[in-house]
Amino acid sequence: MTINLPATDVTDEKPARVKTAAGFEIAVFRHGEEYFAVANRCPHQGASLAEGHCDGEDVVCPMHRFKYDPRSGRCRFPKHLRLRVFPITKTGDTLAIDDSMAPDPAAGQHG
Ligand code: FES
Repeated sequence: MTINLPATDVTDEKPARVKTAAGFEIAVFRHGEEYFAVANRCPHQGASLAEGHCDGEDVVCPMHRFKYDPRSGRCRFPKHLRLRVFPITKTGDTLAIDDSMAPDPAAGQHG
């Protein structure tokens, strides 16, 4: 499946949050002309990453300030934490997120 949203919904200062049909939340970030889509739930203690911000390309969790590489999903430190990442493309003024690999929260999958 694909989630579409207007590119104007995401700015460098303000991430967006979208949900899959199953209810899994994805945070969308912009850094310059690049867009990133990652699981919204921080794997540390569950904070909403869409409430955070970017530091350069890194996604910064609002709760304990852990930083994640939005391309690989890897936490800068501690390195064992990892976010699920989703392919995102921009065509014209529309962003398209491929959420086919999103887990189903109703089945107890949150990562
Ligand atoms: S909940 Fe995200 S760093 Fe702790």
